Amino acid sequence: MKKIILTGDRPTGRLHIGHYVGSLKNRVKLQNTGEFDEIYIMIADAQALTDNFDNPKKVRDNVIEVALDYLSVGIDPEKANILIQSEVSELTELTFYYMNLVTLSRLKRNPTVKNELKLRGFEDSVPVGFLNYPISQTADITAFEATCVPVGEDQLPMIEQAREIVKSFNNIYGETLVYPEAVIPQNEVERRLPGTDGKAKMSKSLGNTIYLADTPEEVRRKVMGMYTDPNHIRVEDPGNVEGNVVFTYLDVFANDAYFEKYLPEYRNLDELKKKYQEGGLGDVVIKKFLNNILQDELAPIRERRKYYENHLEDVVKILENGTKKARIKASETLDKVKSAMKIDYFKNDEYLKEIIDKYQEK
Ligand code: TRP
Repeated sequence: MKKIILTGDRPTGRLHIGHYVGSLKNRVKLQNTGEFDEIYIMIADAQALTDNFDNPKKVRDNVIEVALDYLSVGIDPEKANILIQSEVSELTELTFYYMNLVTLSRLKRNPTVKNELKLRGFEDSVPVGFLNYPISQTADITAFEATCVPVGEDQLPMIEQAREIVKSFNNIYGETLVYPEAVIPQNEVERRLPGTDGKAKMSKSLGNTIYLADTPEEVRRKVMGMYTDPNHIRVEDPGNVEGNVVFTYLDVFANDAYFEKYLPEYRNLDELKKKYQEGGLGDVVIKKFLNNILQDELAPIRERRKYYENHLEDVVKILENGTKKARIKASETLDKVKSAMKIDYFKNDEYLKEIIDKYQEK
């Protein structure tokens, strides 16, 4: 069986370092293993419209932003097809048939949907299109016969639901669809990078994000304003590393080489944490250290972004090519699906024969 990656993001804003450590980094790593036969990275604009239908301009503007973010983190258009979801109409058609296989109560029980309904105040009157999005996401995944779906942890219930739909489809219509597997970071902190304010998750609405496209000065300002330990007032005070966002980020990003380069008084993070807990280590020191690290991590990303910002015609071409290839694949799967369901009337010579036979029996 082929090894195929499909994953995607809603284009509702620029991607941030939470996306980066939670999923994007993984995708680039998987892409560069060379183990995959096909890779599809989807800009899920149709899904973004399910809760932004009244603001299509926002979605439209962010398609290119997300494309730039993908290219800047190292998604390689030679290896991966970057595609725009709404341009692959086969996905909508697949969704329509999968809708028969899912109950309303199952959709409402999906933990991610449940959470999002609350978040958006949709609890009492949810648009059908929004509630339907896990089914549409199953179409995305199965259309490309994805075996591997690298996503953030919050998407696990989506993959679960997709597997249920695959099972149900294959049971009813015969083995047709491929079971997908979610891939999330192994490291707990990477799965859920908190916002700069210490709130559970980075999100645009909370204003606690560091964007991949932030300028060096913006990153510095955000790091220097990070939440640490509110009781660590004077340098001499013992400090807490638990729930201290600077240390959480250092857990993800600091390696021994960074200590050698920027903070040679300490050999590693354990030593730094120990000193902080004992007292005598100021917040400014650890913040400056984190800032240096983030600047190093973001520099190549920024550089690639700059290149593509100056070659926007290439970016649109990349999207067009990726989408074209994606469409071919999705339409092959749609053919398989329709043939399994026996609604491939004109593509199947058997159909006419069956009718003739039936009439001749009379
Ligand atoms: N729901 C995903 C998100 O909000 C985006 C997405 C759409 C997706 N279709 C997908 C992710 C298919 C993985 C596979 O981030």
